[in-house]
Amino acid sequence: MNHKIAPSLLSADFGNLKADIDMVNKSEADWLHIDIMDGVFVPNISFGFPVLEYVKNLSQKPLDVHLMITDPAKFIKEVRDSGAFMMNVHYEACIHLHRTIQQIKEAGMKAGVTLNPSSPISLLEDIINDVDMVLIMSVNPGYGGQKFIEHSIEKVKKLKELINNKNSKALIEVDGGINLTTGKQIVEAGADVLVAGNSVFKAENPTQMIHQLKHLD
Ligand code: DX5
Ligand code: ZN
Repeated sequence: MNHKIAPSLLSADFGNLKADIDMVNKSEADWLHIDIMDGVFVPNISFGFPVLEYVKNLSQKPLDVHLMITDPAKFIKEVRDSGAFMMNVHYEACIHLHRTIQQIKEAGMKAGVTLNPSSPISLLEDIINDVDMVLIMSVNPGYGGQKFIEHSIEKVKKLKELINNKNSKALIEVDGGINLTTGKQIVEAGADVLVAGNSVFKAENPTQMIHQLKHLD
């Protein structure tokens, strides 16, 4: 298995972010996943650009930014300036998704489209060749520590099929309820990147957990 691990900062200790970012820096993690929420698109608020700026200066891992906000197209420049290499926008939050994806790429970032659990893979047919990544939500977005939705496994298989049929190079990232069991199932289904919040930051030994998630076989 040759997948990437992106620990989600949402489950880190906000009173001691530096220590948790240092832990990720020294670990086998590939990216650092950053969740930005606005209290409108999702029923929670996390943190915004001033915090991200601080994270950018401390993180040695590429920043994978997941925007759970309405109209993310308004903030492309801010996300880029905050050091993101990947900007993930929700399909459900973008009326002109194709334009937004082009603008993210023009700004010099990789572009990801995210699907909520109730949004079917078929919605991606006409955008799959334009995106660098699809982020499949395996929980309803808004909170860390929720239970993995089993149906996500079928969904990843379907997405893999669509990617192969359309000769797309898009990566598949999965976010929500990922632990050693669900992580293995979802990588076997075709996922390229695992996001993990609670399972990493609430583990007794987070560095070791990242190692285990990276070497699932
Ligand atoms: C949820 C966020 C996730 C969250 C995952 O809305 O998008 O990135 O941090 O947390 P766990 O891994 O605990 O489900
Ligand atoms: Zn996320």
